[in-house]
Amino acid sequence: MSTLPFDTRLLLAPMAGVNDPVFRALCRRMGAGLTYTEMISSLALAYGNRKTQDMLRALPEDRPYAVQLFGSEPAVMAAQARALEAELGAGLALIDINMGCPARKVVSSGNGAALLKRSELACEIVAAVHAAVRVPVTVKMRLVSHADADTLAFASGLAESGAAALTIHGRTAEQYYRGAAHRSSVDTLVAGLSIPVIASGDVFSREDAREYRERGASAVMVARGARGNPWIFSGEEPDLAERVAVAREHVERLHAWEPRKLVWMRKHLAWYFKGSPVALRVRKAVQTAVSLEDYLALLESCAVGGE
Ligand SMILES: Cc1cc2nc3c(=O)[nH]c(=O)nc-3n(C[C@H](O)[C@H](O)[C@H](O)COP(=O)(O)O)c2cc1C
Repeated sequence: MSTLPFDTRLLLAPMAGVNDPVFRALCRRMGAGLTYTEMISSLALAYGNRKTQDMLRALPEDRPYAVQLFGSEPAVMAAQARALEAELGAGLALIDINMGCPARKVVSSGNGAALLKRSELACEIVAAVHAAVRVPVTVKMRLVSHADADTLAFASGLAESGAAALTIHGRTAEQYYRGAAHRSSVDTLVAGLSIPVIASGDVFSREDAREYRERGASAVMVARGARGNPWIFSGEEPDLAERVAVAREHVERLHAWEPRKLVWMRKHLAWYFKGSPVALRVRKAVQTAVSLEDYLALLESCAVGGE
């Protein structure tokens, strides 16, 4: 069933505000089969926005990787997909199209999960991007409604339009993250589609991933379960010293990559030490950390341990 053109071990899901290039590279080193960028606006790329272009980049050891685009204009999506294929060459594994983001500012402009209500336009986007590039084009979506038949009908249209695979996050857009992901939607899509299905939703352990595989998913994504926990990809249980070492590498390499991005370490560090004896201290200290030295001093104090 799996005809996915990449290593289908656990995948790092696209996550806006989380997936910086260093985090993605760490996940890859720990065993992620593929990593995704944050969702990237096709319109912002078309305008030549520098910050948006930066989001496309990845570290050399994290290639080939998946780029996720969002947008609702087929011609713009196609043109940007073609341009980034030309730019990234063999570094690009696939282009994924976001049809699941429920955030108000994304949906209100007709993007992300808004497309779940516009099947015809969604199919046009897939067909246009598919015609523009050689790499596989995939779609990441949510449930169209609580009736699996609706989700299958929508997904079938995407497959007919050229989608090479579909990722399903088993919640409706209206649910945001409330309730448990509806896992049996994977069964319905696997049974009803001839393209591979990738599962997403509530994967916090390798056991969760195994359950999705047993339902026929060709691959499984980890999202929230990877924050502060790239070890989910290796199956290791890190001790405090290992957490400190990886967090330090993340800080140093992120600073070297782009000093202005260092502020992202506030949330990453809180996640790395969540549930550990130093969690509270880290959460407090990151609020005032600014420079590389601040972050390194904070990690130094973590290495000593204690509250
Ligand atoms: C902070 C955050 C940012 C996310 N950003 C994206 C995104 O840019 N594109 C996307 O398709 N999904 C995004 N998602 C959804 C995840 O990829 C995933 O489908 C969802 O979190 C369900 O998986 P989980 O329950 O294992 O976290 C995001 C989720 C979180 C928590």
